[in-house]
Amino acid sequence: MEFIDLKAQYRRLEPAIRARIDAVLEHGHFIMGPEIKELEAALSVAAGARHAITCASGTDALLLPLLAWGVGPGDAVFTSPFTFFATAEVIALVGATPVFVDVDPVTFNISPEGLQRAIAAVHQRDASIHPLPRPALEGGLTPRAVIPVDLFGIAAEYDALLPIAREHGLLVMEDAAQAFGGSYKGKPLCGLGCDVATTSFFPAKPLGCYGDGGAVFTDDDGLAEVLRSLRVHGKGADKYENVRVGINGRMDTLQAAIMLPKMDILADEIAARQKVAAAYATRLSGIGGITPPSVPGHCRSAWAQYSILCDRRDALADHLKANGVPTAIYYPKPLHMQSVFSGLGYAAGDMPVSESLSRRILSLPMHPYLSEAQQDVICGHIASCRGQG
Ligand SMILES: Cc1ncc(COP(=O)(O)O)c(C=O)c1O
Repeated sequence: MEFIDLKAQYRRLEPAIRARIDAVLEHGHFIMGPEIKELEAALSVAAGARHAITCASGTDALLLPLLAWGVGPGDAVFTSPFTFFATAEVIALVGATPVFVDVDPVTFNISPEGLQRAIAAVHQRDASIHPLPRPALEGGLTPRAVIPVDLFGIAAEYDALLPIAREHGLLVMEDAAQAFGGSYKGKPLCGLGCDVATTSFFPAKPLGCYGDGGAVFTDDDGLAEVLRSLRVHGKGADKYENVRVGINGRMDTLQAAIMLPKMDILADEIAARQKVAAAYATRLSGIGGITPPSVPGHCRSAWAQYSILCDRRDALADHLKANGVPTAIYYPKPLHMQSVFSGLGYAAGDMPVSESLSRRILSLPMHPYLSEAQQDVICGHIASCRGQG
């Protein structure tokens, strides 16, 4: 059994993907070939955003807007501690300081009330209002941006987050690396009106390529122009005219070519993921010691992961492994506890929800081609695990 079965999708799309790859090998425009424009047009329609700008990874997609906005030393960027490292890594990479805000215990996404308190705490340099990183207390920080993460495919609570950000003049970057194809109040993710949204096309994502890839989405024409410049070494009108310092952050033409047939079946695959999730929910409902994921009624998850909470997580993971069922732990250590951020001075207990989730979370196999028979096997082993229930 596969945790994410990429081969099943490949079998479905093989002729189309091979034809697309062959076309690139024939025309030979491996860098910024015509498939890049074609993919960007398709992505922009799918997200309902004016601009879709492809790039080399989901990490570069997060980095490019921070570079464009000139976020740097002395700036506070608020984000979740319960996410993949890249979300906070880019903040540190540009020299700014991540200010972690704990997550909601049901959606696992950044808490709007927590954000409100964290902003006040930074303004007042008062860690009694909300735990703060050392630089916020010592030199003080300027609140600049917030990066909500749509964890496991479920949107953060944007109708609460955006007004808070607007009130305090914060830029908002939606990290939808795990959520492309999902929706919030009927609107596609990456098209919710945040200043910028980003996603990743890492192979295991709901929409993946066969290597690294990502995209940035925005409705802002001026910002889009700067992002396009930054992804190619800060180029100006001509490629040998450099008007700013950027990166080599382009997506390969071959990756765009591979993604085009995948775009055609994305809606169908997202629908299939809903069925898999519903079948899991039914099968897991009677098993004690397990909390299946819960999606708010106004959200449609892209189901990048199907993550349950368990009373005895490690015993269950071992039991499933022994029975041939692959699982994963996203994430075993919240980011405020990562050694690389020890200089920020956060302590255990600062983000209690994230810390508790990291001890209880377990992701089960999830992909559009997971059969009911496979789900019966997985859930049978969960039910039979001694100590559960
Ligand atoms: C929430 C989140 N943000 C950012 C990234 C980074 O994306 P990439 O691996 O494409 O650089 C990931 C990838 O796993 C992610 O899950």
